[in-house]
Amino acid sequence: MHILVTGGAGFIGQHVVRGLLDRGHEVRILDNLRPDVHGSGPLWNAPSGTEFWRTDVRDGDGLDRALRRIDAVIHLAAKVGLGVDVSDLPDYAASNDVGMAELLAAMARSGVKRLTLASSMVVYGEGEALCPQHGAVVPAPRLEASLASGDYEPPCPHCGRPLQPKLVGEDTPFDPRNAYATSKVAQEFYARNWARAVGGSVAAMRYHNVYGPGMPKDTPYAGVAAIFLSALRRGEAPSVFEDGGQRRDFVHVRDIAAATILACEAHAMGLAAFNVGSGTPRTVGDMAAALSRALDGPTPIVTGRYRLGDVRHITADSSRLRRELGWNPAVGFEDGMAELSRAA
Ligand code: UD1
Repeated sequence: MHILVTGGAGFIGQHVVRGLLDRGHEVRILDNLRPDVHGSGPLWNAPSGTEFWRTDVRDGDGLDRALRRIDAVIHLAAKVGLGVDVSDLPDYAASNDVGMAELLAAMARSGVKRLTLASSMVVYGEGEALCPQHGAVVPAPRLEASLASGDYEPPCPHCGRPLQPKLVGEDTPFDPRNAYATSKVAQEFYARNWARAVGGSVAAMRYHNVYGPGMPKDTPYAGVAAIFLSALRRGEAPSVFEDGGQRRDFVHVRDIAAATILACEAHAMGLAAFNVGSGTPRTVGDMAAALSRALDGPTPIVTGRYRLGDVRHITADSSRLRRELGWNPAVGFEDGMAELSRAA
């Protein structure tokens, strides 16, 4: 197929582009090389065999040209992170909500009907957890007073009892708790509306915590693995927030790219959402320890600091992706962390 990858110069995008080329697809990359991601240094060199268009995804005329002779779109261009403070809201809405709306309108004009969208596990907020009395419940947002007093676990909203973790499926209700999450929910809804209106297909890939070579670092929007890696390379101990017991699913970027490509190739009807996680949740404390070991660095420090927009635990059930698309993650946690520690 001839595939347009928006955000193809980004962390996930570069791995997706490589995977598409390996599978014999023709690739056109559209990326505006945002300075907060790419800096103001020399221009990015697109991989050979691709066409590169330096265009903003909100540029309707540019999109019309970029969509010519395209069979499918993989939409990865976005402002990522969770939002530093409320002043970030307009940029999330402009980059992610308006960007999605412009792309869908242009796809409707061009008649391109296949969309694979980078969504996120953050659409579920705290997800669901199990109360011994009330079964599956939605933990309430954590109060600042609780976090400040070191009370990190969200209790049952009905009886206040401690909760057991649960892997969330794709039918878990949306509960976005920060600017980024809100914009990803909006993107999914815009895409659904578009798919209904034009008879298009959309695969919404709800990525878990993606890590691997090339991950963004030293920006306010860097993920925790990159932050820990930078600290260790400065000879400092990773600074673990809360008590380090928060659970995430760290999934390697090549596995993310493979899932995205499979969905783009296979999904051609209506709307489908796929969680993309390794299936093996880890705590942030465990991840810090694994990176410290791999770099022979100082032991992580558990700080008790917290960020109000953070959820405590979020872990996916990615069985739909395995069942329906035959995806299987190939990179194990220890190997992936060791590779990350060696990456440039
Ligand atoms: C991450 C992604 C988000 C993605 C989501 C999918 C980033 C910045 N965020 O959100 O885009 O959609 O996964 O599930 O990549 N922490 C520390 N020390 C630090 C920084 C963070 O302990 O110095 C902790 C945080 O408190 C949090 C955990 O690490 O509990 C993960 O933080 P982060 O990497 O920002 O990711 P998510 O919020 O899970």
